[in-house]
Amino acid sequence: MIKRDLPDGTPISVIGVGAFAMGGWMWGAQQDDDSRAALHAALDAGVTWIDTAPIYGDGRADALVAEVLTIRQDRPLVFHKCGHRLVDGQRVTDGSRERIIADCEQQLRAFGVECLDLLQLHWPGPQPIAETAGVFAELKRAGKIRRVGVSNFSRDQLAAWTAAGGPLDTVQNKYSILDSQAEADVLPWCAEHAVGFLAYSPLARGLLTGTWDDTKVFPPGDHRGDRAEYGSERRRQLAPLLAELARIAEEEDVPVAAVAIGALLCTEGLAGVIVGARTAEQGSLLGDYAYPLRQRDLDSIAAALTACGG
Ligand SMILES: NC(=O)c1ccc[n+]([C@@H]2O[C@H](COP(=O)([O-])OP(=O)(O)OC[C@H]3O[C@@H](n4cnc5c(N)ncnc54)[C@H](OP(=O)(O)O)[C@@H]3O)[C@@H](O)[C@H]2O)c1
Repeated sequence: MIKRDLPDGTPISVIGVGAFAMGGWMWGAQQDDDSRAALHAALDAGVTWIDTAPIYGDGRADALVAEVLTIRQDRPLVFHKCGHRLVDGQRVTDGSRERIIADCEQQLRAFGVECLDLLQLHWPGPQPIAETAGVFAELKRAGKIRRVGVSNFSRDQLAAWTAAGGPLDTVQNKYSILDSQAEADVLPWCAEHAVGFLAYSPLARGLLTGTWDDTKVFPPGDHRGDRAEYGSERRRQLAPLLAELARIAEEEDVPVAAVAIGALLCTEGLAGVIVGARTAEQGSLLGDYAYPLRQRDLDSIAAALTACGG
């Protein structure tokens, strides 16, 4: 597994495992035993960090991650989040001092540790960014968090965070072949400021794995079934791209998902890619994904994207 350094010099596997679907919320039925097996398989495959959040199943994913860590001899890092939760089934985003401190304390207790490896603000809240940045600085000074991250931030919001004296180690934003906006703004900002970019939804939630055919249906409760971006028309539109990913995968003898992720790995500023896994098989495949592509493959993927209409 390829490793990259976080800004403080700590090496991490370039692929991390994400626990979003393990919470069940938004992803249809999920068995806890499958989630446990996915986590173990990912760690056995060389992954050294797990990304989780309180909102993933209202604590269910956090609890599974904490449980698995009590069994492991290795010590993977946990990338926690805060400031985004479910209240009566609705998402609430809150970057207030009270909420950030309460979320931090709750995760210290849930994981039985005195200091969190990384605490990320899940989404920018309605409060002024300077107020939230100040709370993270306070938690770091108090030794409650080792590193600080933000997520779903624009370049301007990142500038506001650092201008307010907010410490910053990582930025976690959406990034895939199909969602490459970060290349134009946040990734260059991260490279310039020596902050590690963590890519989420790199497989476009499964669409780029090459495993969906025309008969693909999503189970009840799976958000992908309600969104046109994962629907059959979109998949037809993306046929030239999906065919090109499959061609490269066959030529290189790697999974299609490895090609979709490999296309991201050479981008400057990128520290890690978070891949969601919900079964042992998906977890064990993460070991095959640290596979940076050659320029000629990047060029043919870009051409295939153009053939899809953008
Ligand atoms: N900060 C944020 O706001 C934010 C937002 C989203 C995600 N994230 C983080 O990023 C992580 C990854 O993002 P994501 O889960 O949204 O999307 P993703 O990694 O692009 O896709 C994950 C999904 O793809 C499918 N999949 C995975 N491996 C596969 C394989 N080998 N073959 C076929 N299908 C496969 C699985 O769903 P099925 O098997 O059901 O198809 C899995 O749940 C999350 O777990 C979370 O930690 C953060």
